[in-house]
Amino acid sequence: MAKQSSSDGPFSEKLRVPEALTFDDVLLRPKESRVEPDAADVSSRVSKNVEVNLPVLSAAMDTVTESELAIGMAREGGLGVLHRNMDTEEMVAEVGRIKRAHEMVISRENVVTAEPEMTIEAVDRMMQVEGVSGAPVVDEDDTVLGIISGTDIRPYLEVGEEDAVREAMTDEVITAPEDVSAREALELMYDHKIERVPVVDEDNHLVGLVTMAGILERREHENAARDEEGRLLAGVAVGPFEDERAIAADEAGADVLFIDCAHAHNLDVLDSAEAIAETVDADVVVGNVGTRAAAEAAVDFADGLKVGIGPGSICTTRVVSGAGMPQITAVTEVADVASQHDVPVIADGGIRYSGDAIKAIAAGADAVMLGSYFAGTKEAPGRVITRNGKKYKQYRGMGSVGAMNEGGGERYLKEEEEDEEFVPEGVEAATPYTGTLSSELHQLVGGMRSGMGYVGAETIPEVKERAEFVRVSAAGQTEGHPHDVMITDEAPNYSPDE
Ligand code: XMP
Repeated sequence: MAKQSSSDGPFSEKLRVPEALTFDDVLLRPKESRVEPDAADVSSRVSKNVEVNLPVLSAAMDTVTESELAIGMAREGGLGVLHRNMDTEEMVAEVGRIKRAHEMVISRENVVTAEPEMTIEAVDRMMQVEGVSGAPVVDEDDTVLGIISGTDIRPYLEVGEEDAVREAMTDEVITAPEDVSAREALELMYDHKIERVPVVDEDNHLVGLVTMAGILERREHENAARDEEGRLLAGVAVGPFEDERAIAADEAGADVLFIDCAHAHNLDVLDSAEAIAETVDADVVVGNVGTRAAAEAAVDFADGLKVGIGPGSICTTRVVSGAGMPQITAVTEVADVASQHDVPVIADGGIRYSGDAIKAIAAGADAVMLGSYFAGTKEAPGRVITRNGKKYKQYRGMGSVGAMNEGGGERYLKEEEEDEEFVPEGVEAATPYTGTLSSELHQLVGGMRSGMGYVGAETIPEVKERAEFVRVSAAGQTEGHPHDVMITDEAPNYSPDE
């Protein structure tokens, strides 16, 4: 009888494995080019119906994206995705903050208004919660009676906390008609030394509000990513099975909902995602996936697919569960399927340098999502911590104990059982404070543009089509980083991996 070779049998067969690659395993082959990096067009899509001017999203994590960072992302042309460790009411308020941030005329449903009989204390609290510094005062019919601002009431010199708004408001209100232009509104504000003008119909009913800050910001950010009404784009993460949150986000005006799950190829998750996609008007991006089979299961109903099983800087999914897909291979598998159905792909996690971001696009992604890269910015939630003279901000995985204690466990399909210890799939960490989001984005996108120059691609779709990879050896990887020198001055776009 012939001796069995070691590869006979179903288990030995398992070791005939395909290779899966990630960022450091590959480089873009330099190609003939006439593309000047600054002239490259970096606009793209994040989902079937939502276009961005930068192919970059910020992660739905509680140490990365709340409204402040989301506003910054959309102003620069990208998209912020609100995390879901907040209750639905807070999420709706956050979407409102993003949508109000850049409007020329804030539409009626987004204008924060006061009633004449509210107390000064109540209106003060409302303005702080809503993040506005003034509010038109309207009666039950929405007729404008006056306007109240923070300076009218604080520091409570002339009015008492229990007084009615009616007593402190300015009742000779300057209003503008519905067809007011930016120029006319600015003139009104300069002439009357005011910062906001209610927009009214012929019967003096409130239909909107123009603010000085809104007009000036709009002028400053011509590249902003906006919806059809000119408001900044907003993305919202919703858990699998969170139908109510999804509907609330949709009604609040979110442009894209992101089904936020560590393993979207779970069939119950897919069923729920499909039901949500059928219910809402917003686009629905399904994630995370990392294989061809998962992409095939979702591509018929998803408006976008988000890729990433364990590449994130704070992830321990791969070591804890033994499962995962190196990110470049994962993106190519998903993009093979998605591109046949015209469904955009987002590469989520593991991006440390701008070069990684453009490699992800070359592998088939339409846009990239980053967490750690933005967690150290001024606009990210949380305060700056100083240790040994260096500044840091907190950054934690949504599957870390701290984040799961605040509700993030569902992403990992883990029930919250009382008195039971979590099995985390992420860590809690600190990341160097990096300053403003706009300078971080400038470095990230500048590097991506350089990559486009090297491969001779003028647009993001051209990167996907033209770019080729070469495989890099361990020696090649070492050669690719600064070597044989001692770095004396930190570069704004490079710090060695510890
Ligand atoms: P980066 O590398 O940009 O990755 O910091 C951000 C992405 O990581 C995912 N994420 C996690 N993955 N455990 C995980 O396995 C976690 O606790 C965790 N938290 C976030 C997520 O996709 C994010 O966009």
